[in-house]
Amino acid sequence: MLLTQRGDSVLGLVRNPDHVTELGHLGVTAEVAELEAADASRLADRLSGVDAAVFAAGAGPGSGAERKDTVDRGASVLLAEACQQAGIRRFVQVSSMGTRSPNPPDVDPVFGAYLDAKRAAEQDLRERDLDWTILRPGRLTDDPPTGRVMLGTEVARDAVTRADVAEVLAALLAERRTAGMALELVNGDVPVTEAVGAAVE
Ligand SMILES: NC(=O)c1ccc[n+]([C@@H]2O[C@H](COP(=O)([O-])OP(=O)(O)OC[C@H]3O[C@@H](n4cnc5c(N)ncnc54)[C@H](OP(=O)(O)O)[C@@H]3O)[C@@H](O)[C@H]2O)c1
Repeated sequence: MLLTQRGDSVLGLVRNPDHVTELGHLGVTAEVAELEAADASRLADRLSGVDAAVFAAGAGPGSGAERKDTVDRGASVLLAEACQQAGIRRFVQVSSMGTRSPNPPDVDPVFGAYLDAKRAAEQDLRERDLDWTILRPGRLTDDPPTGRVMLGTEVARDAVTRADVAEVLAALLAERRTAGMALELVNGDVPVTEAVGAAVE
């Protein structure tokens, strides 16, 4: 909604067909795409006219190590490859806090697989000739937006609302000078626009 409100045309790729109508009500053109079973060149064909992409899919809670790999790594790699084939240079990837350092020895195995998948997705993106930005949020909550965050290459672990992540993603899409950066994000004291501006100073 943040994107359509500012006049962007948005194509949403969703797995669940029920979400097509829901997104339609927000002014978003939605198409069903099963990113664990898609082909990069066919996906590239569907991205005609798109000038920037956000990868925000995830295997989600309750999924095992295998789906961390097929979604959190594999689907990001697939979308990045499709973007490259379609000539879409701008790519913002939702990764996760915790990828900056190695997994602690006592990490839960599935959470460890999740962080490994996110690191591999980040590495894949770094090796591509794209204008990529990696966003690493802390623990996501469904609390109301605060509009205030802490954004930087290293920030202390904390939570951040999904709504605030969305606002940061919208701002990052429009701020190409963040290309080549990996930024951690939690809720904080700085208004989103100011925080994104400060990241490129
Ligand atoms: N939750 C956290 O605390 C946290 C913290 C840091 C980073 N993140 C990252 O932030 C992003 C959003 O996380 P979230 O917890 O809000 O959501 P999520 O449960 O990780 O999933 C986000 C979306 O991914 C979609 N998805 C799953 N498999 C798919 C597939 N094969 N093809 C297409 N779409 C697929 C899901 O579709 P369905 O609706 O059909 O299931 C869901 O709508 C993820 O990348 C996650 O890793 C999460």
